[in-house]
Amino acid sequence: MSDTFENEIPHLYFEDVSFSYHEKKKNLIFKCSFSIKKPGLWMIVGKNGSGKSTLLKLINGIIKPINGEVHCKANIGMVFQNPDHQILMPNCRSELLININQNISEYEISKKIEYVLDKVGLTGFEKRPIHTLSGGQKQRLTIACTLISNRNFILLDEPTALLDQTSQVKVLKTIKNLTSDLKKPLSALWITHRYEELTYADAVAELKNGFLSDWQDPSKFQYN
Ligand SMILES: Nc1ncnc2c1ncn2[C@@H]1O[C@H](COP(=O)(O)OP(=O)(O)OP(=O)(O)O)[C@@H](O)[C@H]1O
Ligand SMILES: [Mg+2]
Repeated sequence: MSDTFENEIPHLYFEDVSFSYHEKKKNLIFKCSFSIKKPGLWMIVGKNGSGKSTLLKLINGIIKPINGEVHCKANIGMVFQNPDHQILMPNCRSELLININQNISEYEISKKIEYVLDKVGLTGFEKRPIHTLSGGQKQRLTIACTLISNRNFILLDEPTALLDQTSQVKVLKTIKNLTSDLKKPLSALWITHRYEELTYADAVAELKNGFLSDWQDPSKFQYN
C-alpha cells in the first residue's frame, strides 16, 4: 500500500446515509449526515445496538449504504474492543513488522519501530512476547500498528471496554497525544458509552434512533 494519503488531511463526509441489515426492516441508520474535516479526537456515544459499530463499518467500506453517500479520503486503521482479536504475531516486533507495508531498509524499519513504540508509550517493548503484555499495552500496540502502516485516520470501537481504569486512561491519553501532535496530528473517531471518556474529546455526537446529532463541545454535551 502506498503513502498516498500520508501528508493529506483526512476527510470524511456522510451525506444522507441510510442503512439496514434487512431489506424489510426499519433503517438502523437513517439519513445520517456529518463530516470530519480536521484532525482531532472525535467521539460518538450511543446505547447498545444503536448502530455505532455499523457506522464504523460504513466508514471503512465493509458495508455499503442503501441510500446516500459516504465520501472518505483517508488511510483508515481500525482498533477493536478486544486486541486479542487483531494481534496475530508472537511478539511486538513481529506484529509491527507485518503492518509495515513499505519496501524500506532494515535500518529504517528499526527506526520506525522505535518511533511508533515511543509514540504509544511502549519504549523498549520490541522483543516482548505478546502474552506478557497487559490489556492496555496490547491495545497501545494495536495503535502502534496503525501508525506504522501510515494510517492517518483511526477508528476505535470501544477500545477501552475491557480495560481497568489505569489502562483506560493510558490508552485515552495515547490517542489524545497523537491527535494533538503539532507536527502531524492524527484524526481519531472513538466509539464509547463511557461518559467519563468524553472529557478527552474535541467533539462529541450521539447516535440515537438512526440519527447522529451535531458535533458538540464535550463540556456542553448531555447524554440522554
Ligand atoms: N451482520 C449483521 N446482520 C444483521 N444484523 C446485524 C448485523 N450486525 C449488527 N446487526 C444488528 O444491528 C444492530 C446494531 O448493531 P451494532 O453492532 O452496530 O450496534 P452497537 O451500537 O455497536 O452496539 P454495542 O454497543 O453493543 O457494540 C443490532 O441490533 C445488531 O444485532
Ligand atoms: Mg458495537
